[in-house]
Amino acid sequence: TPRIFSGIQPSGGLTLGNYLGALKRFAALQGEQSETIYCVVDMHAITVWQDPEALRMRTREAAAAFMASGVDPAQSVLFNQSQVTAHAELAWLFNTVARVGWMYRMTQFKDKAGKNSENASLGLLAYPALMAADILAYQATAVPVGEDQKQHLELTRDIATKFNHDYGVNHFPITEPLIEGAATRVMSLRDGSKKMSKSDPSDASRINLTDNADAIAQKIRKARTDADPLPGTVEGLRDRPEARNLINIFAALADESPDQVLSRFEGQGFGAFKPALAEVAVAKLSPITAKMAEFMDDPAEIDRILGTGAERAAAIATPILDRTKDIMGLLRSR
Ligand code: TYM
Repeated sequence: TPRIFSGIQPSGGLTLGNYLGALKRFAALQGEQSETIYCVVDMHAITVWQDPEALRMRTREAAAAFMASGVDPAQSVLFNQSQVTAHAELAWLFNTVARVGWMYRMTQFKDKAGKNSENASLGLLAYPALMAADILAYQATAVPVGEDQKQHLELTRDIATKFNHDYGVNHFPITEPLIEGAATRVMSLRDGSKKMSKSDPSDASRINLTDNADAIAQKIRKARTDADPLPGTVEGLRDRPEARNLINIFAALADESPDQVLSRFEGQGFGAFKPALAEVAVAKLSPITAKMAEFMDDPAEIDRILGTGAERAAAIATPILDRTKDIMGLLRSR
């Protein structure tokens, strides 16, 4: 059976992008045919400074978002990264395998470090080695993510390949990225060339998983669009990124293809389309928002679930870490 791993950073409120690109698909991948391991990656979050109490709260909130989206902690392993020490240990081992040049090439590092990259934390540069450790600590074979994580997953494959080659073993699998569906890259509602992101200064650019129905409807009403009517197929949207984005969002929320959505709205303008989009967005997101709030009413229960998940995760990761140490010649006598 394939073993699936994925993670989400608790570094701010979660967005519709996180939901459609990741959370919604995490729940769908659960079942008899696969083993699913899902992680709130709090150690990734601290590569940029986080207020300690807010980080703890957001870690719980991310766990609540997983569960509200349908991740069942009995069917999946659900935990936060820092409670399973194998992640940090394997990340160090991978720091010795990965090359500095690989890290400098990462576009996310360049974006987040900005102009003064000498001043970025060392952790921000080494971030992809920790991400590779997250995945390979479980010898996971498939990783569902949004389009923006593709480069990091290629680096994970590079680390696995180099490790296997350097030590003459076939220890780590070459992980497959699962980047699928209509919404692998949800764009900003204000600018069709920018990714929808929790770090965008404009709150109107994104739908937060904590937004109420009024806020969702208002943000969709104000979303940037053009004045043309909708075409009958996606080919007609080639130079219309904002329109394309809203169609993709509709398709992903309604579990349809973009062409199916367009076949119903062909010839109509955004005056007709936007209220329909708002309706499907509210219908799909409101129950999730409500469930998240319910889970957040009992933080102790979330902590208990994460603790149990961490124990189950450690039981899988520890033997793989031990074997990795043996391969590398690190003496183990206890
Ligand atoms: P993060 O926390 O930024 O995002 C979590 C997931 O949401 C997806 N996503 C999007 N998908 C579509 N459209 C968007 N606008 C959008 N914004 C975010 C991301 O692609 C991701 O799947 N490095 C990772 C976290 C991570 C991880 C891992 C993921 C750490 N270790 C191991 C997979 C496996 C990150 O920063 O995701």
